[in-house]
Amino acid sequence: MTTLFVTGGAGFIGSNFIRYWLSTYSDGRIVNYDLLTYAGNLASLQDVEENYGDRYTFVRGDIQNADLTRHLFEDHRPDYVVNFAAESHNSLAIVNPSAFFQTNVVGTQKLLQAAADAQVPRFHHISTCEVYGDLALDSDESFSEESPYRPRTPYNAAKAAADLAVRAYGHTFGLPVTLSNCANNFGPYQFPEKVIPFFVVRLLTGQKMPLYKSSQNRREWLHVDDHCRAIDLVLKKGEIGETYNVGSGIEKDVETIADLILDALGMDAAHKTYVDDRPGHDRRYLLDSSKIRTQLGWEPQVDFAQSFRDTVHWYRDNEAWWRPLLKKIQVREEGW
Ligand SMILES: NC(=O)c1ccc[n+]([C@@H]2O[C@H](COP(=O)([O-])OP(=O)(O)OC[C@H]3O[C@@H](n4cnc5c(N)ncnc54)[C@H](O)[C@@H]3O)[C@@H](O)[C@H]2O)c1
Repeated sequence: MTTLFVTGGAGFIGSNFIRYWLSTYSDGRIVNYDLLTYAGNLASLQDVEENYGDRYTFVRGDIQNADLTRHLFEDHRPDYVVNFAAESHNSLAIVNPSAFFQTNVVGTQKLLQAAADAQVPRFHHISTCEVYGDLALDSDESFSEESPYRPRTPYNAAKAAADLAVRAYGHTFGLPVTLSNCANNFGPYQFPEKVIPFFVVRLLTGQKMPLYKSSQNRREWLHVDDHCRAIDLVLKKGEIGETYNVGSGIEKDVETIADLILDALGMDAAHKTYVDDRPGHDRRYLLDSSKIRTQLGWEPQVDFAQSFRDTVHWYRDNEAWWRPLLKKIQVREEGW
């Protein structure tokens, strides 16, 4: 029986990954290790507990606690560690950068050390397109795995430093590592500080969506299920020491995202308002994901237009999930 030790599994992508993996494999086991920060939410895993409780274990803890993770590795003997745990909100990183370097850099290093000490057979690290810096809106470039790291915000600088630490543990200590750097994800169970659920929840609570003035800035969007399939493939077929970019090629600017949300909810443009950009707001990220496509045979399977509507409707239909989270939102986007 394959055992995964997933960190940050109570967050957006981690909880989707746990659901995906346990429902795909009938003989796998997952240990979910999560600190339950404001962004961690066990309500996102209620159905997992109910449907797969015999193959799923939750442990509350910090990735910085290397003694605890080492003991857990020795007890559970995981075949794979998959590290999702991070502070993940760019805006919050401007208000409290220290927490980002502490968790994303020091936390990752402590987890790597525990994994090396326990001789974990594989450490997969979840990273982001944002480590490569940003692109001009009219650029015809995209970021490959060979592109230089040029992070510009505390969040993406901390993620970049974590990637370097992962590679260092691979080269220096022989830890079998792989990395994946993914584009912006969307889907259910995303904390309502991130743009899609944030805008939807604004509208559903009778408020306007605050768009940054640079609303032509754009992102590459991938449904979280396609990200989960990519991670799974890298675990199974990825080469040790390698990094894989994971992107859809589908770019949408913030204005378009807002309009698609209005359309899905049958609302009009009067529900948009414009606020100052947060400092360091990156213009654009676009990944060249040909490596994972040609070497591992991955490609996105989810239709963007339909899954975007479904995502908006999921938030509309799951108020009981997001309502308790509103008081935990840390940043006021209108206040830069
Ligand atoms: N959301 C995206 O679009 C996106 C895109 C590319 C990469 N990523 C990366 O994917 C990973 C997951 O992102 P997400 O959007 O699900 O984030 P999230 O903020 O929703 O979840 C993060 C989870 O990590 C946990 N956590 C935080 N600090 C911890 C610590 N010290 N110890 C243990 N657990 C801790 C939180 O409780 C939470 O459950 C992150 O590493 C992020 O950088 C995200």
